[in-house]
Amino acid sequence: MAPTNTLEMGTIGLQEDARELTRHEEQQLFLDAAKRGSEYLKGVRDRSPFPAEEAIERLRVLDTDLPRNPEDPFAILRELDEFGSPGTVANSGGRYFGFVIGGALPAARAATVLAAAWDQNAGFRVLSPIGTFLEDISLGWLAKLLGLPATAAGALVTGATMANFTCLAAARHELLRNLGWDVEADGLFGAPEISVYVSEDSHTSVLKALALLGLGRARATRLATNGQSRIVVSQLPKIERPSIICVQAGDVNTGAFDDASELCAWAHDSASWVHVDGAFGLWAAASPRKSHLTAGFSEADSWACDGHKWLNVPYDSGFAFVRRAEALRPAMAAEGAYLELGQQREPSHYNPELSRRARGIEVWAAIRSLGRTGIAELIDRTCDHAALFAKRLKSAGFEILNEVVVNQVLVSFGSDAHTEAVAKALQREGTCWCGLTLWKGRRAMRISVSSWSTTTEDVEASVAAMIGVERIVREGSQRS
Ligand SMILES: Cc1ncc(COP(=O)(O)O)c(C=O)c1O
Repeated sequence: MAPTNTLEMGTIGLQEDARELTRHEEQQLFLDAAKRGSEYLKGVRDRSPFPAEEAIERLRVLDTDLPRNPEDPFAILRELDEFGSPGTVANSGGRYFGFVIGGALPAARAATVLAAAWDQNAGFRVLSPIGTFLEDISLGWLAKLLGLPATAAGALVTGATMANFTCLAAARHELLRNLGWDVEADGLFGAPEISVYVSEDSHTSVLKALALLGLGRARATRLATNGQSRIVVSQLPKIERPSIICVQAGDVNTGAFDDASELCAWAHDSASWVHVDGAFGLWAAASPRKSHLTAGFSEADSWACDGHKWLNVPYDSGFAFVRRAEALRPAMAAEGAYLELGQQREPSHYNPELSRRARGIEVWAAIRSLGRTGIAELIDRTCDHAALFAKRLKSAGFEILNEVVVNQVLVSFGSDAHTEAVAKALQREGTCWCGLTLWKGRRAMRISVSSWSTTTEDVEASVAAMIGVERIVREGSQRS
């Protein structure tokens, strides 16, 4: 049968006469992917951060009937690029300020491409000497950068949600073991009671982790927070029994840090466990200018952090650290004769997964490419950009709702309805992209500056767009 797809970089017809690619074609295909990726990156700074409606509409082309026969990989890649690339959110473009989204660092991104060729399973040492070795190195470097005890046990996971889950599983193990209960063996039915305290403004992922662990979202006691989302230490209740206390290093809205020293002292008096959700905020420890914000957090018992946020490692990349390996290991243990592999640390004995991507590769590359000084500079620069946003928007007459301590800015353009209308119009206008939030009962637009690629020009262009869009929305609503 005649080939159905003729391409510059390879010509094969696989519709009926399925055959494997030749070695040469396999290499050409990989080069084609790299070339397409590099073309994408060439244009990414000039693109609107969010795809156009038509581009999203055109994604339907990819929704074919379930393919009956093998298809030409070159054609698949071409179609993916033609329809998929315009349907992406331009994280790497420098003007995406939604959620807390980093843009992959060039070295980390390139390492991920090489890692795709390697196709390593970093579940166990025997499956990937390089993947597990780089994981060990990365965990050691991360503990130093984040100011955590060198003896803490770590795990590379998919993100802060799984890091929260992993740490809280270790907390659940340790507190119940101290009460004479083996939760991994016997489950939670009939277990001695432990309590959980969370910040009133805890991130939803902490609550999700509690739900997944059978500790219950609604059962947790909420600790009151102040106007910046920091736990009010003067209102801490008396702890009645060993408890898990979840605190924040970097609130997702305000960027605020809890008073870790006070909270750790309060919790440790009752043999309770302090868990830190530091998804992005813990990175402040890596900046001499900002590290005062993380004072006291090293006294906690476990820490969740992300690579794909402020370190700008490609998705998905999160880190769980637990002070005592003896609490993490049994909580994550996987049994099975064929998994008893030796005396060295096996990644899968310290995290929820068995088979897993070798996430240490890009973490290692990211840290190597920036070094301590480069990471501190990345943190400082993004914080400076956030401060510039706040300064310009305040001068333009808008209200900045939070103290801008790190990279998060909350802005109100007036009433809730007006703020919402402006944020949505800004998203359509396309210079930059910011999300909305409801914070302390008020609608606010969130600006999170988390990408290495954001420049001062990006900030100025985005501020100009915000001011212009606000005027148009205001004039429009005055006319109607
Ligand atoms: C404070 C905080 N915790 C947890 C998370 C969840 O992180 P992830 O999306 O990596 O699971 C986020 C995400 O923004 C966050 O800001």
